[in-house]
Amino acid sequence: MTSSLVSPRQAHRARGISIIGAGHVGLVTAACFAELGHRVTCMDIDANRINDLRHGVMPFHEPGLPELVERHAPERLTFTTEYEEAVRGADFVFLAVATPTTAFGTPDLQYVRAAARDVARAVNGKRPFLVSKSTAPVGITDTLESVLTSEANGHGPLQVVANPEFLREGTAVRDFLKPDRVVIGSPHAEASEAVGELYEPLGAPIIYTDIKTAEMVKYASNAFLATKISFINEIAEICERVGADVRDVARGMSLDKRIGKHFLNAGIGFGGSCLPKDVKALSHLAAVYGSHPQLLNAVLEINLEQRRRLIARLRDMLGSLRQAKIGLFGLAFKPETDDVRDAPALDLIRMLEYEEATIRACDPAAADAARIVFPTLHVEADPYEAAQDADAIIIATEWQQFKDIDLARLRQVMRTPIIADGRNVINGDEARRLGFVYFGIGLPDETTVRNARRVVA
Ligand SMILES: NC(=O)c1ccc[n+]([C@@H]2O[C@H](COP(=O)([O-])OP(=O)(O)OC[C@H]3O[C@@H](n4cnc5c(N)ncnc54)[C@H](O)[C@@H]3O)[C@@H](O)[C@H]2O)c1
Repeated sequence: MTSSLVSPRQAHRARGISIIGAGHVGLVTAACFAELGHRVTCMDIDANRINDLRHGVMPFHEPGLPELVERHAPERLTFTTEYEEAVRGADFVFLAVATPTTAFGTPDLQYVRAAARDVARAVNGKRPFLVSKSTAPVGITDTLESVLTSEANGHGPLQVVANPEFLREGTAVRDFLKPDRVVIGSPHAEASEAVGELYEPLGAPIIYTDIKTAEMVKYASNAFLATKISFINEIAEICERVGADVRDVARGMSLDKRIGKHFLNAGIGFGGSCLPKDVKALSHLAAVYGSHPQLLNAVLEINLEQRRRLIARLRDMLGSLRQAKIGLFGLAFKPETDDVRDAPALDLIRMLEYEEATIRACDPAAADAARIVFPTLHVEADPYEAAQDADAIIIATEWQQFKDIDLARLRQVMRTPIIADGRNVINGDEARRLGFVYFGIGLPDETTVRNARRVVA
């Protein structure tokens, strides 16, 4: 699948590239630059991860990535835990370390700063360009230049470039090799051009700009995508009240080219390692600069409310959630990944546990990741096992396996046949015909239609 995306011969000339951080962005970047013909060293402070990678064991589920790593390691792609080894002879050092959210909603920049410091100390001789792929608040990449200068090990300052990453987990390899655009921000023309050359074979538009603008493109893009989701979720709530079907509303809207069809699926909201954290970071940044980011705050509030509303509807149906048995279908924040960072399912688990419900979850890829957050979480490999004797099931992730669920079989194993479809993937008519009480997000059902009639009358 990945071999058809680009030809390894397309690289203008092989360059030495060091990637700091072997996570979702770093490892994909490393494997893809190797695919483009470069010599890549991928470095991480997590020795277990590096040891696994040297033995071909992937640290996370990402379609197409294992094949790329296998194709290029160890000839063009090597792994190390040592900064000196990573940086030695490199023309470019890419930072791809995490910028998670602190308790205050601000990005935690300790990893980025530590990585920049250790790169500066490790450079010896040849001076690489330092390219930041980590998503960090506007202005931070600029400040890395002073870290690099103050920590320099006898060498001159390194030229810094902001090169935000837009890949999506689940389609990361394809996104990297077939990007919609590449954004390169730097005051140094030589560095910008050199980084631009690396991406030229991909044939995507390249935007050259200053560092702050490049950082802002990333935040604004993610904030816009999150806004689309919260927008359609607000419309979904209105649809429920008036008895309209948000799926058709979204379809009708999306045929308008100005609107587009993406990110208009109503549901229990967005999650993952990027959208929630980046919207929070942008909102915080705006507030720090004296702005009042009302829209961003509403986007976050609506998102959390989606989870609360689903739980409230279930509670209303069951009378109480105390000791109710809930089958939770899906843990990953989206299909085709095992990433549970900020996953809607985790919020649902917290809410259900608070109300003393009993949860049996099921996810094709994310069980281990979820157990790191909830060590005692009961996870079944088989959805029918998770639904055994359940009072309700909740669909939290739209995995194909759940879309294809055999409703008749599901009906047989459940104690109370309620489906709370947080992703609108089940055929509600068929479910009702089989005796389920079914509700989705923004879909008309008997109660809402009855209520709407009362208001109109
Ligand atoms: N995950 C995505 O879909 C995505 C998409 C676009 C942008 N981003 C951004 O890219 C950045 C990286 O995200 P990610 O999802 O790849 O993170 P991740 O948590 O998957 O990986 C980060 C890696 O960095 C390593 N690390 C931490 N400190 C280090 C150090 N000092 N030296 C070397 N390695 C170190 C960690 O061990 C980990 O393996 C973040 O800023 C994120 O916001 C992520």
